[in-house]
Amino acid sequence: MESLDKLRFYELTLQERGEYLRQETGLTESEIDALTGLSGLTPAAADKMVENAVGVYALPIGIAQNFIVNGRKVWVPMAIEEPSVIAGASYMARLARSGGGFFASTDEPYMIGQMQILDIADPANARVKLLEHGAELLSEAAKIDPILSELGGGPRELDVRLIENSPIGPFLVLHIVLDVRDAMGANAINTACERLAPQVEAITGGRVHLKILSNLADRRLARARVSIPVNELAFDEFSGEQVRDGIIEAWAFATADPYRAATHNKGIMNGVDAVVIATGNDWRAVEAGAHAYAARGGTYTSLSTWSKGADGELDGWLEMPLAVGTIGGATRVHPGAKAAIKLMGVQTARDLAEIIVSVGLAQNLAALRALATEGIQRGHMTLHARQVAAAAGAEGGLIDAIANRLVQEKNVRIDRAKEILKELKN
Ligand code: MEV
Repeated sequence: MESLDKLRFYELTLQERGEYLRQETGLTESEIDALTGLSGLTPAAADKMVENAVGVYALPIGIAQNFIVNGRKVWVPMAIEEPSVIAGASYMARLARSGGGFFASTDEPYMIGQMQILDIADPANARVKLLEHGAELLSEAAKIDPILSELGGGPRELDVRLIENSPIGPFLVLHIVLDVRDAMGANAINTACERLAPQVEAITGGRVHLKILSNLADRRLARARVSIPVNELAFDEFSGEQVRDGIIEAWAFATADPYRAATHNKGIMNGVDAVVIATGNDWRAVEAGAHAYAARGGTYTSLSTWSKGADGELDGWLEMPLAVGTIGGATRVHPGAKAAIKLMGVQTARDLAEIIVSVGLAQNLAALRALATEGIQRGHMTLHARQVAAAAGAEGGLIDAIANRLVQEKNVRIDRAKEILKELKN
């Protein structure tokens, strides 16, 4: 088959795309089947994952094209029900190639565990005592998970915060920071918090109430940047300058208005979540972390930044917490997730986060570019029309025929789709 660069992946049939993956990637037949849903997660496996299982729930999975992250070409599996997202990411990744692709980095995989310490007569004094015993607590924590320590992870820091005002009065919060290596880390953190609690109670004389990780994983940030030459941005009647400035104006709206910022960040999460889900990671954790981080300054704002570079290019930047793993949990149990991780060629959780944050930035660019120029509906319309045609009962070639008519008529409605279907069948 032709090389991917020359080939328009979206023009292949479903079967051809599977065949293409078989030829071009290192995935085995059964891994491709797991990824594409021909095999994958079985109801019997699901029964071992959750309670009261009755089966499995499927989502479309597609492969975003054109991504270069830190100089490496990557296949990006995305599990998502929304049309236009995978196409948008692929198109922006293609534009990004002219500036070298995406450049991403991550912090060490540090997760924070919290212990809420109540019933202390003198919280300020208890805080000092805890800090005095910091080294002791950390070495105790290191004994909890020797395998993690062998892999180079383990406890790193301890911090004690005094919450002065709360509905139940003042109390202390102990933070333990753990390097969780390639795991998402929830189990390691929660275990450490639970195991340290008696010692913390002995030191403070208080009662350790909650013992749980924080999803505001701001010690585990991922960041990506992209730079697009201004001429690459031009299309149809829009000049590159118009597109660039329109994107910066759209971003400015999100920085200043939480109503817009929520939608702006939702667009970022379209890309982030799709990869997080495809790789079997906890997307609720990533969502919670992203939005809490977006509000860290006291006002909810944009996670990304867009500006005009020295040579007139469009520069973009995204930074957010990304607690994702390549080992443990569903990443190792779900056959499709395992295949997705292999497809991406990532060795570590940090590699994975670097790709995910790049996809988030690409997705944000796709949304802002559309919003700042032709509007979002045009791109959405064709795919949406196909869904409407299928919902109206069309099959095979009729789906595209009806979808095209609906778009031409600018009337993407199921009643109209049914009428056209009847007409075409007759
Ligand atoms: C739709 O899923 C996402 C957008 O609303 C994002 C945005 O407005 O930036 C298009």
